[in-house]
Amino acid sequence: MGDIAGKRVLVREDLNVPMADGKVTDDTRLRATLATVTELADKGAIVLVLAHFGRPKGPSAEFSLAQIVPAYQAVIGRPVGYVDWEGDKDSVAGLKPGDIAVLENTRFFSGEEKNEPAVVERFAALGDLYVNDAFSAAHRAHASTEGLAHRLPSFAGRAMEAELDALDKALGSPEHPVAAVVGGAKVSTKLDVLKQMVAKVDHLIIGGGMANTFLAARGVDVGKSLCEHDLTGTAEEILDAAEKADCIVHLPYDVVVAKEFAANPPTRTVNVHEVAADEMILDVGPAATEALGDVLKTCRTLVWNGPMGAFEIAPFDTATVALARTAAALTREGSLVSVAGGGDTVAALNHAGVAADFTFVSTAGGAFLEWMEGKELPGVKALES
Ligand code: 3PG
Repeated sequence: MGDIAGKRVLVREDLNVPMADGKVTDDTRLRATLATVTELADKGAIVLVLAHFGRPKGPSAEFSLAQIVPAYQAVIGRPVGYVDWEGDKDSVAGLKPGDIAVLENTRFFSGEEKNEPAVVERFAALGDLYVNDAFSAAHRAHASTEGLAHRLPSFAGRAMEAELDALDKALGSPEHPVAAVVGGAKVSTKLDVLKQMVAKVDHLIIGGGMANTFLAARGVDVGKSLCEHDLTGTAEEILDAAEKADCIVHLPYDVVVAKEFAANPPTRTVNVHEVAADEMILDVGPAATEALGDVLKTCRTLVWNGPMGAFEIAPFDTATVALARTAAALTREGSLVSVAGGGDTVAALNHAGVAADFTFVSTAGGAFLEWMEGKELPGVKALES
């Protein structure tokens, strides 16, 4: 990067944080920006943070990044300015080396998401260099995530580097045996992920509602459970592909069932072949959970996306919490490299109190899934070219 003192650096960050009643409710993504932004400021750059917030249909107070600035300032621990899209050139000209400012929501320009050259130029005119530090937005080929990398000298930020490094350790060049946990409600949302995983990992652990579709494909009567019956053929194809690739697929053989999806209803723990017609599967059972823990003990690498059961309602968080704790303990002992990502997954790991024990927890939702699908992320690719 050379000497950047006095240079204006456009830093693409992901400030798309959850908010309630005007307050940031989870500042993980804000904290993830700290290393890059403070390093640049300490080297005397004028740091201009570019980010989107929500999915606005044009400028509006509801989606203004101005409301993030107080929380961001608290995280950064030094003053953070705010630059509106009106008079932005003059505001930026008034900044001094070492200053940090957040530019207004990039999506207030309709051409941002279309990666329009005029919007790329609009942003590029404000900076001398471009740093992309937002892995979690790198699956978008937008002006601020992709176009700018072709227009200005461009670099990966520290958080972006850390994400790419961790993801490479997990699936790029991992130590085998590798296990993937893929959970969540529906097979249909993770078809490509499942197809990729059977080709890359030694053990594929399927949990959550999507396991029911696989059980149904194997002839199990899953009662009232969430199940995509029209996808049982696809599930069979995935099971066949796994067999050909020597990937062992683990489906639950005991399950926790209830007649209603509510907090603490009467439940039964049964063999998968004993689910009654009016019952639904809501979690993996204790015997299968223990066996899955034993599988992890034989592995060196774990990639995790999606909960094992309906973890947001007790007691159907039991399998997710137990397996997460086993993975965390193995990671602490040094026998497992564990990488997790996706909004629900991170919430589940936080709920289990083990997120900090994983080797790496990605800040990304959609980008993490696309990476697991084996897709090239335009924001990352643009940095390489
Ligand atoms: C995210 O929240 O996953 C990223 O910020 C991307 O947001 P988007 O899905 O609105 O592009």
